[in-house]
Amino acid sequence: MVATPILHHLHILTLLLICSCSMHASANTTTAVPCLPDQASALLHLKHSFTHANLPSWRAGKDCCHWEGVACDAASGRVISLNLSNIDATIHRVDTALLNLTSLKSLSLTTTRISEGLSTLSKLPSLNTLELHGLSSSDLVGPELSSIGDIRQLTSLHLEGYDFSRSQPSWIGNLTGLAHLRMHGCSFAGPVPDQIGTLAKLTLLDLENCNYTGQSVPSWIGNLTRLTTLSIQGCRHSGSIPSAIANLTRLEVIRLGNNSLVGKIPQSLFAFPALKVLSLKNNQLSGHLEDIPFPLYSSLSTVEINDNQLTGHIPKSILQLKHLEYLNLESNRLSGTIKLSPFWRLERLFFLSLSNNKLSIADEEGADVLKSLPNIYQIHLASCNLTKFPGSLRYLDKVSVLDLSSNQINDVIPSWVWENWKDQLESLNLSRNMFTALEKFPSLVHMPRLTALDLSFNRLQGSIPIPVTAVSGNVLDYSNNNFSSILPDFGRYIRSFYLNLSKNKLNGYVPSSICSASHLNILDLSYNNFSGSLPSCLIGSGKLTVLKLRENQFNGTFPENIREECKFRTIDLNRNQIEGELPRALLNCQDLELLDIGNNQVRGSFPSWLDILPKLRVLVLRSNQLNGTIRDLDGDHGTTNQFPSLQILCLASNRFYGHLPKGWFNKFKAMMENVNEEGRVLGYYTNTTHGFYQDTVTITLKGSDLIFTKILTTFKAIDFSNNSFDGHFPESIGNLVSLHGVNMSSNNFTGQMPSSFSNLSQLESLDLSWNRISGEIPQVLTSLTSLAWLNLSYNNLVGRIPQGNQFLSFPNSSFEGNVGLCGNPLSKQCETTDSTASSALAPPEPYNLWQDRLDAILLFTFVGLGFGVGFASAITFRMFCHIKGLDCKQCNKEV
Ligand SMILES: *[C@@H]1O[C@H](CO)[C@@H](O)[C@H](O)[C@H]1NC(C)=O
Ligand SMILES: *[C@@H]1O[C@H](CO)[C@@H](O)[C@H](O)[C@H]1NC(C)=O
Ligand SMILES: *[C@@H]1O[C@H](CO)[C@@H](O)[C@H](O)[C@H]1NC(C)=O
Ligand SMILES: *[C@@H]1O[C@H](CO)[C@@H](O)[C@H](O)[C@H]1NC(C)=O
Ligand SMILES: *[C@@H]1O[C@H](CO)[C@@H](O)[C@H](O)[C@H]1NC(C)=O
Ligand SMILES: *[C@@H]1O[C@H](CO)[C@@H](O)[C@H](O)[C@H]1NC(C)=O
Ligand SMILES: *[C@@H]1O[C@H](CO)[C@@H](O)[C@H](O)[C@H]1NC(C)=O
Ligand SMILES: *[C@@H]1O[C@H](CO)[C@@H](O)[C@H](O)[C@H]1NC(C)=O
Ligand SMILES: *[C@@H]1O[C@H](CO)[C@@H](O)[C@H](O)[C@H]1NC(C)=O
Repeated sequence: MVATPILHHLHILTLLLICSCSMHASANTTTAVPCLPDQASALLHLKHSFTHANLPSWRAGKDCCHWEGVACDAASGRVISLNLSNIDATIHRVDTALLNLTSLKSLSLTTTRISEGLSTLSKLPSLNTLELHGLSSSDLVGPELSSIGDIRQLTSLHLEGYDFSRSQPSWIGNLTGLAHLRMHGCSFAGPVPDQIGTLAKLTLLDLENCNYTGQSVPSWIGNLTRLTTLSIQGCRHSGSIPSAIANLTRLEVIRLGNNSLVGKIPQSLFAFPALKVLSLKNNQLSGHLEDIPFPLYSSLSTVEINDNQLTGHIPKSILQLKHLEYLNLESNRLSGTIKLSPFWRLERLFFLSLSNNKLSIADEEGADVLKSLPNIYQIHLASCNLTKFPGSLRYLDKVSVLDLSSNQINDVIPSWVWENWKDQLESLNLSRNMFTALEKFPSLVHMPRLTALDLSFNRLQGSIPIPVTAVSGNVLDYSNNNFSSILPDFGRYIRSFYLNLSKNKLNGYVPSSICSASHLNILDLSYNNFSGSLPSCLIGSGKLTVLKLRENQFNGTFPENIREECKFRTIDLNRNQIEGELPRALLNCQDLELLDIGNNQVRGSFPSWLDILPKLRVLVLRSNQLNGTIRDLDGDHGTTNQFPSLQILCLASNRFYGHLPKGWFNKFKAMMENVNEEGRVLGYYTNTTHGFYQDTVTITLKGSDLIFTKILTTFKAIDFSNNSFDGHFPESIGNLVSLHGVNMSSNNFTGQMPSSFSNLSQLESLDLSWNRISGEIPQVLTSLTSLAWLNLSYNNLVGRIPQGNQFLSFPNSSFEGNVGLCGNPLSKQCETTDSTASSALAPPEPYNLWQDRLDAILLFTFVGLGFGVGFASAITFRMFCHIKGLDCKQCNKEV
């Protein structure tokens, strides 16, 4: 799925605004008659009954009709509506003082566990609208709400976030006057209560993010023939859309999105004369879209059937829908060639997405195709087999969001994009095409509303175009092009939150103007040719959370000006020419999760002092000039929590020597936890609308040369290879039960292979080659059914190679160079034939099984942008590699 979160966000926001406006339109604060004294007194009494309330405007002597959340009848000065759902208050009990508000029609409360007083509500003669919000689902139990069933006059009920798993709210069936029923985020033990099906007066039924066991949309829905709005979203429904829905001929709004519905879209849906909104997005609906007759008289304005499995062509009838405003067909399997101009004739259309189908778009130039200029302002045509920039777009003068990513446009980016749209353009995604140049693009261009510009993965050259915008915190991605220069004072204009210049041909010093880009949070200059010392204003910014400078020619030492308020989560300086020692000021970065200094010339001893960073998960020090022995961690400070979160540790190719202290591995808490969860992707949600930032690390796997740009928090590995460690292998390695990879090759380890390896039940890759390990290979290692790659070559091992499980699939090369080893797969046979050995052969676990599993936990690697954000197209490439050994060696090849 190619996601466009920003844009979706906007759309959702619009809908939310519409919803909330219609819900809270009643208050008229310019009352003629001021609040009656008895009303004020009752409200104050009520305030005192709250366990906690921050209601500063509720003060005696002030007109209560102006108090926060209070609305009065203008003529009588009596309170008619009380909305306390968005205030800072804790309410455990509904006080009887409420009964003095005899005109109260609408009540909205956020409640924690209500122990008493709900029955009071049934004595309010005018109450017809009730909205109750739970605060945290653990606290909120449905049974306490049962007295709501006594408020017979209710016409509108909204329950948010209650847990009915201990008793079904069958009392809903007594509310026979209900016209509107909303239940959001509620849990039920069984299916959604049948009693709802008997509420014959319902015109609106809205269930969202509910948790119940019913598999299908309940068939009693067909009895609710007065429904005008049916919304059952995010409730994990499977099955097909029930045919009973055909009964609901008055429907104006159908929303069944974010479920797992299968089957075809019933034709009856399209025949509803009043239907305006059809939203079935994000299900598994199939069938030919072209079979669906969109009737000519239809009043449909919103068709949202994206993220399904619909096939066939886009029906011509859809282009006859005169009222169509919003059309989202993206991420289906629609095919055929389609012209754009007929869409532009839909005068009301403001949103069009055809992205990620199997469509080919044929565009024809010329304003003559347009009768009048349409209102369209969002156009998504990603992966539409476009080879040219669609010329007809030029005549659409309101475009503010355009996505043409992942096409094969081999063209210049036309200047009218900036000229015609510069005042309104908010988001432009032209990534993953073959654009070669920007036509007449000045180095600076005013685009005051720009929030996102993605030109990544093209063939653009020359100077990087810098938009001058009034929006702070925007996203600019120029990565993976051939840009060779940037305006020296570009930093003065950059108001970005995220700036990615990686994988270009930029060189020289980083312009010092970058120091004035004060909104920057995530900066990626990786894979260029920048030189000179590390810009100390970046290290000392105190604002950056992610700094990626890998694969440049930065030299000099690591600046020491790291501030106390350091915000870094990720620092990646891999493959530069950094020398000197790591500054202890790094300890100011208490949020640091990933530190990659690999492939530099850093000196000094193992920075064991980093062990107090509570969140450090990935530490890569590979290929530096670090030396000395690894002391017991306890030495430095008496804490027991050392490297508490570390999951990937790479010390390979340094000059470490000596024994690994006996208990060394006992310290790594995170690696000792045996977690069975799937894990989350290492990264974090930026506190903006841009979404998720994903960390990347170069954990490359031997033989496959792939960069992992998505790290799962559950992936654990250590690489100590290519040093001069000696002595026995610490048995304590067996305590790191969740390790996936161990590489200790090319050291001078002696002694026997510890049988504690057999505790590493998740181990997928083990490399102990080129050591001086002696003795036999412990038979218990055959119990490591996850082990897919083993290298014990060039040691002093002797005896029979264990036979069984995975061991049968390892090649010669796993064992060669051990003169004393015999048996399969080596050609050297063992002298004493042991009959039990061959009878104990278990069939090898098919290699593919393992690979599929690893694919699932580790390898759905996102390639390219580490920032799965905004418009960034997060195309998933499944990697078809055979993982050999783990090796955190840096390499550059990408899929
Ligand atoms: C608000 O109340 C005032 C006084 O009664 C009235 O003049 C005005 O029209 C009302 N406004 C709305 C939006 O109802
Ligand atoms: C409610 O109204 C009654 C009289 O109708 C009065 O006695 C009582 O004090 C009022 N309660 C509050 C809390 O104002
Ligand atoms: C509905 O109301 C009837 C009578 O008023 C009562 O007996 C019954 O228990 C109520 N049902 C529920 C589920 O509350
Ligand atoms: C759904 O409700 C059940 C209890 O009925 C609960 O155990 C489960 O965690 C809930 N699931 C979600 C996703 O809320
Ligand atoms: C629909 O209502 C009729 C009576 O009005 C009832 O017999 C039938 O069982 C109801 N259908 C469902 C599915 O609840
Ligand atoms: C359709 O509604 C009628 C009542 O209007 C009801 O009797 C019938 O069972 C409903 N059909 C379905 C399929 O629910
Ligand atoms: C893409 O367009 C080309 C012509 O430009 C066509 O040959 C090819 O079949 C199209 N691909 C798909 C998947 O429709
Ligand atoms: C860093 O590199 C620049 C050239 O790129 C060179 O002039 C400078 O002397 C180098 N500094 C150090 C400390 O090596
Ligand atoms: C580490 O290397 C440095 C030179 O880079 C050397 O001066 C120092 O003595 C070495 N330390 C140890 C403990 O080997």
